[in-house]
Amino acid sequence: MKDTFYITTPIYYVNDKPHIGHAYTTILADVLARFYRNMNRDTFFLTGLDEHGQKVKQAAAERGVETQQHCDEMVPRFTDLWTKLHISNDDFIRTTEIRHKEVVRNILQTVMNNGDIYKAEYEGLYSVSEERFITDKEAESGDFQDIKKLKEKNYFFKMSKYQQTLVDHIEANPKFIQPEHRKNEILGFLRQPLNDLCISRPKTRLNWGIELPFDSHYVTYVWFDALINYITSPGFGTNESSFNKWWPASYHLIGKDILTTHTVYWPTILMSARIDLPKSIFAHGWWLMADSKMSKSQGNVINPMDLIDDYGVDPVRYYLMREMVLGQDANFTMESFIKRYNSDLANDFGNLLSRVSTLIKKNYDGKIPEPGDLNESENKIKDAGLILISNLGNKIEEMKINETIEDVMQYIRSVNKYMEKHAPWKLVKEDKESAGRILYTAAEALRISAVLLSPVMPKRTSVLIDALNASDALLQWGGLTPGNHLRDHHPLFPRIKI
Ligand code: MSP
Repeated sequence: MKDTFYITTPIYYVNDKPHIGHAYTTILADVLARFYRNMNRDTFFLTGLDEHGQKVKQAAAERGVETQQHCDEMVPRFTDLWTKLHISNDDFIRTTEIRHKEVVRNILQTVMNNGDIYKAEYEGLYSVSEERFITDKEAESGDFQDIKKLKEKNYFFKMSKYQQTLVDHIEANPKFIQPEHRKNEILGFLRQPLNDLCISRPKTRLNWGIELPFDSHYVTYVWFDALINYITSPGFGTNESSFNKWWPASYHLIGKDILTTHTVYWPTILMSARIDLPKSIFAHGWWLMADSKMSKSQGNVINPMDLIDDYGVDPVRYYLMREMVLGQDANFTMESFIKRYNSDLANDFGNLLSRVSTLIKKNYDGKIPEPGDLNESENKIKDAGLILISNLGNKIEEMKINETIEDVMQYIRSVNKYMEKHAPWKLVKEDKESAGRILYTAAEALRISAVLLSPVMPKRTSVLIDALNASDALLQWGGLTPGNHLRDHHPLFPRIKI
């Protein structure tokens, strides 16, 4: 078993204006990458942009600029946002980069040499917006507005040849498609005969793409090109040791709408090219804004991205991670955002820090008191903290991020209760040593909670750890140094007044 962890997001369409969907998947990947890094796993996190296809060319033409220039100018909308959201990706790939084009051509040639590409004339229904041939069933679904009949000579990938091998692989590897209901959806889809995949577009119709290595009159279908980014970045064909280190990917994170491309097209392409399949493709649900309280007519539609400007990045990251059960849809509402923020972050988390630091400043010259010998109540807090730490790995392996967060929050609430029960603010008047032990215990529990939540809220938790003058991101009991001076800090999570 390799000990490395490699996670990817979809590469987003360069034309898109970044929205909650892009932000969510990228934050999720970032949180997972940070969790694994904290657990000392060698981690590689990739995101990037999908820059080929008709729509990009059109948008450039409308702006009156060269297509490549158009792409270059659109990139900062994403990269600036990732900086703002504290995204810690290790690489950023663009499909118009030479390194990527070479790998795509390499794979196309290999698949061709393996006898899995043929040329044929095909007449069928073509969706202009989707840029692909669609089936009669899809045409009837009403999901496609701009269908036209098209007769064209094209290159096809023999996807059907790998249908049974793919079914066998999915069945033998229960984690290959997650969550379970998505796996069943794809197995259902694969009960019908699988069509071959049209992987070319004639340049007479579209010339913004990667030229086929075996026919210069065609460019590559954008999905065939895009999926390959996942192996370009770690160094397929260019840096063997790096590629072997990271591939197969631990997770391709995707939204549920791009399940078929990732779980049918991608694995069959890899099979044909004789490359190992990724370990897991995980499809998350959608953020819905359908709540009746938020409607255009009422004029109270919120853009989740605006919340970042109003309340900061970390609270939004927290909300997105806490509120969505991975794999299911979730409702985004202002009410639930404020509720979560005020109850979890302001009341429980922020309040514990301000209580502890106020008392230490007032009674111990601002220095962390000595823990002394812990008695039963303190040991309970300590043990509960250690259990949280030891459960972390499994919870994250099982993608239970919201549960992990809730466990830490419950822990924080139990520490608040412990403080109320032992009232160090009263005790300090008669027994300074015992009050010091309580404050040390609460502060250390708070430090551990902050380290545990640091993947979700990297900036605010680092403010907290710094306020406690603990330099370490230690996941053990006893990271605080008695005698260290607390540092001043702004209120971590000021209450949102409604
Ligand atoms: N370019 C392709 C992916 C190629 S990967 C080899 C693509 N790009 S995209 O820009 O449309 O990607 C958007 C991503 O955001 C998808 O994963 C999609 O599921 C996700 N979301 C879009 N809207 C969403 C929500 N409202 N909620 C959560 N995620 C959703 O597809």
